[in-house]
Amino acid sequence: MRVLIAGATGAIGRPLVQRLLRRGHEVAALARSDARAAELTAAGVEAHVCDVFDAASVRAAVAAAAPEVLVHQLTAIPAHVDLRHYERDFAPTERLRREATPHLMAAAAAAGVRRVVCQSVSFMTVPEGPSVHDEDARIFTDNTTQLGPLVRATAAMEASVLGTPGVDGVVLRYGFFYGPGTAYGPGGGTAQEVAKRRFPIAGRGTGVASFVHVDDAAEATVLAVEGTPSGVFNVCDDAPEQLREWLPALAAAMGAPPPRAVPVLLARWLVGPHVVHFSTALRGNSNARFKQAFRWEPAHPSWRTGFPEVFAGS
Ligand SMILES: NC(=O)c1ccc[n+]([C@@H]2O[C@H](COP(=O)([O-])OP(=O)(O)OC[C@H]3O[C@@H](n4cnc5c(N)ncnc54)[C@H](OP(=O)(O)O)[C@@H]3O)[C@@H](O)[C@H]2O)c1
Repeated sequence: MRVLIAGATGAIGRPLVQRLLRRGHEVAALARSDARAAELTAAGVEAHVCDVFDAASVRAAVAAAAPEVLVHQLTAIPAHVDLRHYERDFAPTERLRREATPHLMAAAAAAGVRRVVCQSVSFMTVPEGPSVHDEDARIFTDNTTQLGPLVRATAAMEASVLGTPGVDGVVLRYGFFYGPGTAYGPGGGTAQEVAKRRFPIAGRGTGVASFVHVDDAAEATVLAVEGTPSGVFNVCDDAPEQLREWLPALAAAMGAPPPRAVPVLLARWLVGPHVVHFSTALRGNSNARFKQAFRWEPAHPSWRTGFPEVFAGS
């Protein structure tokens, strides 16, 4: 199968490319510079240089690549996100989601691309009802904290992917990535914050997170590329858990001191209400729909064993 990837050089793009090549697919990628294109070519990938913010440039690149399936993994997240400046740090990703996605979808439709698989996130539902949400939970678009702009841009991206006539849209809402090359991996930005005890448990720490090992996310994406079901799917591990459980476990796996506990009011002032939301209100996410539709089982079913494995020897 001919597969074109936008975002082939990111945390998930790299393991995804390796897997697709191993499975015998012809892999092409969009690149934003000649240097990146040369790297991709050396890795056995057909590179097409374009500007994702220029509709004509994207249309020409997608037409030249002529893929059956397009995979959208574009983000522009700093290696080290500053929680106090979340809105600033995620603004480039918002722009990609809002502006580049319609260009990719229009180009896909024009080139007769059958299927588009797009990266989204699971951790953006309204904090109401059960502690674990499925894909039908309401999206928190009226969030008034620093999270709001990213949630709204992500919802707009999903609508574009799912609403392009003639193209089967597949939205993969990944949980929090952990593993090599991610924020929650050795040397990663969040891991460094945890090591310095700058990632607190705000309030009671009852907010629930769903993680996914980045290699499992890549494997799931291969299944989504090769399969036929379309729509929205959470791609998470089997173990949604409260922050007051997973954060000390992460620190222990890293050999770091335990996290500090900080009252809500102080955390709100120190880092902001969006961080308090993650710590006290966030819901986890069920992976049942994806498992059933694509017959997927994560190789790392729980962060409980995954964190120690990832940080062993680091
Ligand atoms: N669900 C999650 O938890 C989640 C999801 C995504 C990312 N993250 C985290 O975010 C951090 C950074 O992610 P990342 O390593 O994937 O890097 P990234 O900087 O977000 O880049 C991802 C991909 O998008 C491409 N890209 C970015 N801006 C572009 C633009 N303007 N035009 C064309 N392509 C563009 C990058 O290409 P270049 O190589 O040219 O930069 C790369 O291939 C990591 O710590 C990761 O764990 C977490």
